[in-house]
Amino acid sequence: MASSVDTTGKLCLDWRVPGHVERSGPSGVRTVPFNRPSLVGDEIDNILEAIRRGQLSGDGHFTRECNRIVCRLTGTKAALLTHSCTAALEMAAILADLEAGDEVIMPSFTFVSTANAVVLRGAVPVFVDIDPETLNIDPAAAAAAVSPRTRAIFAVHYAGFPADMDALAEVAQAHDLLLVEDAAQALGSRYKGRLAGSLGDLAAFSFHETKNIISGEGGALTVNRPDLVPRAEIIREKGTNRSLFLRGQVDKYTWVDVGSSFLPGELITAFLHAQLSRAEEITARRLGMFDRYMDAFADLEASGRLRRPRWSPDCEGNGHMFYLLLRDIDDRDAFIGHLRKQGTIAPFHYVPLHSSPAGVRFARASGDLSVTDDISARLVRLPLFFGLGGEIDHVIQQARQYLEQAS
Ligand SMILES: Cc1ncc(COP(=O)(O)O)c(C=O)c1O
Repeated sequence: MASSVDTTGKLCLDWRVPGHVERSGPSGVRTVPFNRPSLVGDEIDNILEAIRRGQLSGDGHFTRECNRIVCRLTGTKAALLTHSCTAALEMAAILADLEAGDEVIMPSFTFVSTANAVVLRGAVPVFVDIDPETLNIDPAAAAAAVSPRTRAIFAVHYAGFPADMDALAEVAQAHDLLLVEDAAQALGSRYKGRLAGSLGDLAAFSFHETKNIISGEGGALTVNRPDLVPRAEIIREKGTNRSLFLRGQVDKYTWVDVGSSFLPGELITAFLHAQLSRAEEITARRLGMFDRYMDAFADLEASGRLRRPRWSPDCEGNGHMFYLLLRDIDDRDAFIGHLRKQGTIAPFHYVPLHSSPAGVRFARASGDLSVTDDISARLVRLPLFFGLGGEIDHVIQQARQYLEQAS
């Protein structure tokens, strides 16, 4: 594997297994994928090390080391690795003590896992609209959605830019609600100088292969309320107090609460450790690409052709995603079709949950969701991964070709 022979200590530009063939687009042109999982070079050595250490189940050497790094990258004192962000959100929903009929306020403009975690507890997601500038949950809409059944707010940090957490914390405090960050996309991002993960009571992160730091599937829950840490450990370990046992604090472990198997094995955390160890470099590289895209489309925003990402001056992003907002759904779909013909994959985001079949069945909307409907019809994401290299120029050129012709 090309990456494992990199002895320079530098990030590898790309991941090529010998014999790997990049897919071609319909006209035979080389495809620029939306995401290509990239390696830093130490993953395989770490996996061999995990095997040498003789523990492949969870909570061994690499898990402990990863937890330590996640604490540092999130400004928190307690991080628990999980097998996905979905799992971390499900743990948060259990920690929120949700009961049937309880309500959790969240944006409709999010991934299904934010809502599913709540529905699995028998509770009801209550969808509110997003801010048209930041695309994050609108705190005023969240405040207006509070009912006697509300137990929590799940705030998503869209595209890696944190939601307005101070305004949401005010709502949460006024009504005694748990404030959870869905920080799947936001590792390393900041709000008023504070790191994502340290902004609410709990936060869920993703290490899915499309995220900045990857292990194929993977995630973490960070816990800011010390009183919730012991129960979080138990929930993650199938409802047992095995974590106490592993630390020698009890001489046998037993079933003490509800829980499930939310922890990853050591092969995954060994891989993840290699990536987490280079998190700052990976983020810096992604931010460079984000800036490159911002510059490349500045004139088209100035002329009113499109809109680039916007964020509050309180926030610092992590280069997770670059998106464009086009005029309407026809313009957006034609743009996606144009890029596909040239071999570039640029997906939209998201089908709003309030209009999905499960959203209609399990959730309810509060107030007007017109910003969500409008944004989801116009948004398109461009390829952004740390091995993108010179292909970014190709993507920009293809994008501008469409945008200038169809202006
Ligand atoms: C906002 C948000 N929440 C949750 C998830 C789920 O993450 P995972 O695939 O690690 O379960 C994602 C994944 O894309 C996401 O974007």
